[in-house]
This record gives sequence, C-alpha cells and structure tokens, in this order.
Amino acid sequence: MSTTNYIGKPTSRVDGPAKVTGTATYAAEYQVANMAYGYVVSSPIAKGKITKIHADEVLALPGVVQVFSHENVPSLAWFDRSYKDLVAPGGSPFRALHDAEIKFSQQPVALIVAENFELARYAASVLRIEYQQEDHETSLETQRAKGYEPGAGKTGFQPPPAPRGNPDKAWEEAPHRMEAEYVHGAQHHNPMELFTTTVEWRGEGKITAYDKTQGVYNVQQYLTKIFGLKKDDCRVVNEYMGGGFGAGLRPQYSAFLAVLAALELKRSVRLTLTREQMFSFGHRPHTLQYLKLAANADGTLAALQHHALHETSQFEDYTENVVNWSGMLYQCENVKLGYQIAKLDMYTPLDMRAPGAASGSIGLEIAMDEMAYAAGLDPLEFRLRNYAERDQNVDKPFSSKKLRDCYHQGAAKFGWDKRTQAPGSMRNGDGKLMGWGVGGGVWDATQQKAAAKASITADGKLTVSTATGENGTGTYTIMSQIAAETLGLPIEAVTFKLGDTDLPESPLQGGSWTAASVGSAVQSTCAALGEKIFKLAQKMDDSPLRDAKFEDVEFASGQLRLRADHSQAVVLRDVLQASGEAKLEADSSVMPNMVKQNGYSLHSHNVVFVEVTVDEDLGTVHVTRVLNAVAAGRILNLKTARSQVLGSVVWGIGMALMEETVMDHKFGRYMNHNFAEYHVPVNADIHDIDVLFVEEEDDIVNPLGVKGIGEVGMLGVAAAVANAVFHATGKRVRDLPVMIDKLL
Ligand code: MOS
Repeated sequence: MSTTNYIGKPTSRVDGPAKVTGTATYAAEYQVANMAYGYVVSSPIAKGKITKIHADEVLALPGVVQVFSHENVPSLAWFDRSYKDLVAPGGSPFRALHDAEIKFSQQPVALIVAENFELARYAASVLRIEYQQEDHETSLETQRAKGYEPGAGKTGFQPPPAPRGNPDKAWEEAPHRMEAEYVHGAQHHNPMELFTTTVEWRGEGKITAYDKTQGVYNVQQYLTKIFGLKKDDCRVVNEYMGGGFGAGLRPQYSAFLAVLAALELKRSVRLTLTREQMFSFGHRPHTLQYLKLAANADGTLAALQHHALHETSQFEDYTENVVNWSGMLYQCENVKLGYQIAKLDMYTPLDMRAPGAASGSIGLEIAMDEMAYAAGLDPLEFRLRNYAERDQNVDKPFSSKKLRDCYHQGAAKFGWDKRTQAPGSMRNGDGKLMGWGVGGGVWDATQQKAAAKASITADGKLTVSTATGENGTGTYTIMSQIAAETLGLPIEAVTFKLGDTDLPESPLQGGSWTAASVGSAVQSTCAALGEKIFKLAQKMDDSPLRDAKFEDVEFASGQLRLRADHSQAVVLRDVLQASGEAKLEADSSVMPNMVKQNGYSLHSHNVVFVEVTVDEDLGTVHVTRVLNAVAAGRILNLKTARSQVLGSVVWGIGMALMEETVMDHKFGRYMNHNFAEYHVPVNADIHDIDVLFVEEEDDIVNPLGVKGIGEVGMLGVAAAVANAVFHATGKRVRDLPVMIDKLL
C-alpha cells in the first residue's frame, strides 16, 4: 500500500482555501497602475443602423477619456478571416464597433472609457445615439419553413447519420405509436462572475489580458489576429473563474473592447459587462423537436424519427448535435434523424453545458416515456428492452458501457419497483400527488491534444503546468492528484498551474474532455520526469535500483522502489539531493491514440430517477428526490465528480421548471435579462440529490480510463422531471419549462 495513491479518492479541492479566503484572483480583481474603466453601451433596437452618436456631449464630462464607436475605431485586421476563434461556427463572426449596422438587440455600439467606473456608467446612461430602425424577425415559429441544413458547423459538429431501415413504413405498421412536438425556450448561462477583462498595458503593442475565458490560447489567437500583435506580446491569463458553462468558450466582445481601448489609449483598462449584458453574447437556442416513435407488441422499438430545428443569427450558422444521440441510445433498426437551423435577427447561440444533448434528451426522453405508456410498459422496463449493445450510428461497439448497471443499481437505490404505473396513482406521506419519472442520455468521451511541463526541486516540490482552465470543475485538484500519484509524492508537495498563455498549450476547457486530455498530458509528463529521476537514482552509490528497468520500479510514498520488493527503495528527495541538480524538468505533448480508439464508439451514459410532488390546487411542483446514476469511465475524484453531477441536476431542474429567456418580438429583445426574472433554482427548490457512479474499466478511451463528467449529468434530468410530473398528474407538458399555468 502507498500513502500517495490519490486517483479515485474523494480529495478536497486544492484551490478551496484560496477561494474561500479571497486570495484567488479573478479577472476583475487584478490591480494595475493608472487604470481606466470601460462601460459598454448596448443597442436598444434589434435591426437597423446607427445614424448619429452624440459623443461630444459625454466627452465634455470631466473624467471621460474616450467614446469608442464605429466612427473612430482604428483600422483593424478584421478583414482577415483568420480572426475566427477556435470554436467559431460557420459564417462570419460578429465584429463589435465595426460599422453602423445593428444586427441584434443589445449589440455593443459604443464603449465609454473614463477615469472611474461610476463615471463611465453615468456617461453610458446619457449618451444619445440615433438609430434608423428596420423590421426584425426574432420568432423561430414563424421561420419554420426557412429552416435549412447547415454545412460544416463548429468544431465537433456531426450532421445526423443517414437514415436506416424504413422508418415511415415501420411506424405505419407498428401496433403502438406516438408522435409529438417538444419545445424549450432560449436559456442563458448565468455564471455568478460577470465577463470581465483587465488589460495591463505594458508599453507599445504589449499587453497582458486578465480575461474571463475557458480558453486562454483561444483568446490569445483571436486578439493577436485582430490587433496584429505578436504572441509573446499578448499574454492572456485566467487562473480562476466564477463559472463558465460554455459562456467562456468563445472570446467575448468585452475582451475585444478592453484591448482596443488599452492599445488606443496606451493605458491599462478594465471592462466588466453588466448582468443585463450577460444576456447579449450567446445562449442555448430555442429548439423545436418533432418525434415519432413506434413500438412492437414485445416492447421493442419499431421506428424512431427525431427532427430538430433551432435558431441561429444572420451571420453565423451555430450548430449543435441535437438528434444524433437518438440514433445510438436505444436499439432500433428504422431510424430517421433530421436537423435544421433558421436565421433570426439575434446574436449567435453558444455552447451551454451539454450543448445539443441537453436539448435532444428533452425530446427523446419525454417521447420514450410517452411511447412506454402507449405500449403499456414501465418506462424503465421499456428502456431495458431497447438497450443498445452497439452504437448503430457508426456500427461500432462501445469501448465500455455500463448503462445497464446504472439502470439496475439506480432503480434499486431509488426504490423504482414500488412505482405504480397509472398517472395520479401515487401520493406521498402528506397526501400530495407524487410522481416518479426516468430519463437519461449519452455524451461524447473525447480527448484533445494537450501539452504540459513539470519540474521538481531538490526539496521534493513538484510544479506541473499547462494552460487549461478551471471553471469550477475541479481541474486543479484532479491534475494535482494525477501528478502526485504518478511521482509518489504527497499532494501537498504539488503545485499545479493553469490558465496562462506562458504555459504549454492545452485545449479549451469544455466538452468534458479536460480530464482525459490534460490528465493524460500531466500523467505522461510526470512519468517522463520520473524516468529522469530513475536514471539519477541508478547512479547513486550502492543504488538498489542499479540493475532495474524503469518498468520494474514504482513511485510511492515519497520513494522510488522495486515493484517486486518494496524494501529495495530510495527516498526521492535523497535522489535529487545526491544528484546535485537544483531542478529537474520534463515536458510532453499527448495526442489521443487514434489507432486504439478507431474501432470503437467512445461515450459516457447516465440515467436519472426523479420524484416530484404536485399541489393539486396550486399547480406547484417540488422535485423532492433525484438519483443520477452515471457511467463515465474511471472516476478520478469522487468528491469533485459528485459535485459536477449535483450541479448538473440542479441545472436540469432549472431547465425543467424555471429557465427560459423570453423574447418580446415587438422589440426583438430578451425581456427577463436579470436574476429577478430569469429564474434559476435556489436552495428552497433543491431537496435530496443522490449520485451514483458505475465505474467502467476502459483503456481504449485513454490510458487514464476517464471519460469526463462535466456534462453527462445534465442529460435527461429535465425530461425525467417532466415525466414525473406526468406520472403525478396525468398532464403531459411538452413545452418546457413546466410552469404552473401549464398544469392548472
Ligand atoms: Mo462546455 S458547453 O463545452 O463549456
């Protein structure tokens, strides 16, 4: 046994103390000398042109430094299409302050820079701008006929697979059938931390941008291409983030505007968006889904059709994989999947936790519930009868898939066998209507190229670094665990650094791929460092490892020892000190093993059991119990992984019952762009949540065997809540969120 086995252990967050004591520095907290403050002015109209900006009126206010608008921005390298960021969808990205044209409500039209924040805000409130308004179109419903299939979309977009079998005929001939449309409105990421950039001006053409982002390299690439800066002169830093959820995947206009001002004014600038402006740069799109399912007499799926349409902007084809999951979650020979987007006068939607799958699982999993009822089957039993042993979309086996164990273990722990099938047939101890629903989903287990470096000093302190992000998921902690275990060091001896373009390149923190990608790089880098230490250990006087091979030794409990005989050991610190080297370093870059992965479908799965109670007179719904059973490979840290799933469940409850950004089509504007009117769950809305991991051993996905846990927990939660509401009340709500008026 070793004292330094951390992988899999419920380790507390290594960055926890810094966060709770306030020493963790967020983008808006970096203090630099002689700073000016920016404030964005947003367009009140959705479409048209700016005809006049009365900048002179606010420039007359003492302390206002500048008013930036399309009238005075310098010529930039925008025309070079390569300014597209790493996750830009097809089309042409929005360019703030580029011209007089208004493309969406809340479009940034001017940036006020002043000596202090209050003055900038005041100046923004009195700046008069005249517009020539044009008719806008912001209703997806009216644009149904204008839906089109996008071409190449953003990174990771996969057009739906070709149809298989004969879904129309199979549907016509099957004994049990259903068809329905499912709708959810737009939703906005609501991280607590506002988007902020603090730009430190370091002399002509040189900046450091402390920016809220999930990808410092993505922001660096974007800024250098727009402003023609050298990479070395444009450092981007983000060490801590108060929530991202996908909002920080693309560089935001706040970063562009802050850097523009700093370079023009030759001074440091801080710009923070307002909560209202947090609703202006991307959202989970309003989506319409049509599903048509049929079942045979034996409860197997006879046919499955799933078509989705969602909105995008006029200038970019935002894409997400909404329907593809429906071709692989259940076994079915007759499948047709369709996917379209339609242009509206709004900003481009943006990835939001489990983009596509969170939406798609609403349609599929409510439809599966409806189909189970139509076929007279318990909805869990119906899923078990249609268990997919292979990924039929690509006709490959799964590298691992323990969803069946999730079904069984989850049901047992939840007590699903006590469920009675008829709607309205169960009541809780207080005599309230009670309903139990089930849902679930499937998500990608992907790995991206990542690099890391590691160094160890003679006192046995290890520093590992790479420019990944930490948006609250536990990255600092799991990377420290991997590094500590690989070199057999106590976790306290490890410092993990991230979020800085001065560090080796890592991918954006998103897609649930950080553990697999960055974790593999950290492991490989520490192993490379270990090999150097081993060679030094062999050179020590009377080294017990002199004749050993690297494969024969292990790092554990601060020692380097023979696997076969733990008494044959040297203390790591002694090795470093004996070597006379002050510091040993290693770096490496890791790619996914395509050869190994090629024959397999790599995915994580989950199933969610939900209990609701419904007040018959008031129509109020309480989610009293949730159990989320997840199969996502090896779990590196039970504590942070559980937290990821807890957060996903809370958000799923929000999707089901509260969250919707409501567009007033008269103004083409989201009306509830604040925390008072955009409802998210609060403590009083959350009761028992249980998380269960069914671990999978999988050396095909990556050497660590991890699949990622940041997104899979979201899947099917909202559908399971809606299904539980149906079970409680007999009311099938197909347009989320399920609000009181839909139940009365
Ligand atoms: Mo996630 S939506 O890839 O940050």
